Amino acid sequence: MDLFIIQGGTRLGGVARVHGSKNAALPIMAASILTDAPLTLTNIPDLADIRSMLALLDRLGVSMSANLASSRLTLQADDPSSFIAPYDLVRKMRASICVLGPLLAKRKKAIVSLPGGCAIGHRPIDLHLKGLAALGVDLRIERGYVIAQAEHLTGTTIDLAGPNGTTVTGTCNLLCAATLAKGTTVLTSAAREPEVIDLGELLIKMGAKIEGLGTSTLTIHGVTELGAATHEVIPDRIEAATLLIAGAITGGEVTLETVRADHLTSVVDALTRMGCTVQKTHRSMTIRTFEKLSPIDLATGPYPAFPTDVQAQLMALATLAPGKSRIVETVFPDRFMHVSELVRLGAQIEQHGNTAIINGCRPMNGAPLMASDLRASAALILAALASQGETVLRRIYHLDRGYQRLDETLNQLGAKITRVADVPENLPEESIPGSDLLAGPHWLTKPAGVSESAEGRTSL
Ligand code: UD1
Repeated sequence: MDLFIIQGGTRLGGVARVHGSKNAALPIMAASILTDAPLTLTNIPDLADIRSMLALLDRLGVSMSANLASSRLTLQADDPSSFIAPYDLVRKMRASICVLGPLLAKRKKAIVSLPGGCAIGHRPIDLHLKGLAALGVDLRIERGYVIAQAEHLTGTTIDLAGPNGTTVTGTCNLLCAATLAKGTTVLTSAAREPEVIDLGELLIKMGAKIEGLGTSTLTIHGVTELGAATHEVIPDRIEAATLLIAGAITGGEVTLETVRADHLTSVVDALTRMGCTVQKTHRSMTIRTFEKLSPIDLATGPYPAFPTDVQAQLMALATLAPGKSRIVETVFPDRFMHVSELVRLGAQIEQHGNTAIINGCRPMNGAPLMASDLRASAALILAALASQGETVLRRIYHLDRGYQRLDETLNQLGAKITRVADVPENLPEESIPGSDLLAGPHWLTKPAGVSESAEGRTSL
């Protein structure tokens, strides 16, 4: 298992290129099932999640020519006989559920494993299923699988409002399903995320008739067939936000290229309120922090509100802002696994339900940490960059799922992150090659009254 050794305290500076969006690419790849003609996709990031989707599509009879080193992919669903997405593939990535709508629209049947929960909380798919049932799909859940079939799909009006807002992948599934349904489908309370718009734009290139992209009401007039298309995936706004915060948290100056500033309005607004300066030009952005950071009060929400996928990273930044910050998580109310790890670095954070109160400006010191999920890993790296000394971060496979070699991108900006490959999960810190972070009393600054016993244990 790979881990990172991160030396904190370096100011980042320079230019970084933002990769293609993971969350746009995954449903777009699943949309290849909707046609037997080829889809050519560019700006595909080279990520573990993309490889998981490729493995699933391969199982579903999609032939592919993939050159992820040049971010390019051609997909062609030339064997429509398969319709089963097995647990073994789906458990690796929740976004596998994005094949459900395309399978039902094109192949009229699907057996797709339920993705289950994850570290950011309970993640039901009831809205996906409610929408598909409204389109005429006969559904049941049996032994952990969604078993679904339909003679044909018929357009109708579907409201996608859930207790925590709309659903992004649910909107993608229903958008895909409705393209080949008979008649008109109206999705209300639909997700407005740029990733949904990107999928919609691809579907329109394939021949779909969709109105209202970017609004919460999508009208889809069903067509009988979709065809070939070529599409460039949008830049990853979450990677961009993470890199902007990396610049801010180290007091540096970072310029991002190939970025869409119009997708980052709420993030730029939050960073500006915290005292950062963000300059935008055509497809580039530069962040600088001239002043002391200010605390922030914000809530996450569906786009265009502040993204839940940047909540953990912003919390890392808020630990440096003198005063009290408040962050309310409205999309995934339990998404706070990073809090206890930030506290291990010295941050002072209290969690009350879906709200975190951060008492900023306590000095942070490197520590051994454990990543719990994708965005939490990014937040811990950012916090480690702002901490004194060394941090060892384990379980970075979470990070590699969704960031294309973030360690290399940050190192190009001056960070000091070493990736150590294949370290056994339970190896003590002192045995990790290149790490100075020794376990136990050797690295503790001993408070008065503490003495070390002959066996090397600390006694009070
Ligand atoms: C997508 C993103 C993820 C992001 C999330 C919210 C992808 C691959 N992943 O996840 O990175 O954090 O949007 O922006 O694009 N819900 C229901 N019923 C449902 C579906 C969702 O109640 O049927 C709830 C969820 O539990 C959550 C909220 O709705 O509280 C939003 O979830 P959703 O938008 O569906 O997230 P994903 O599409 O899984």
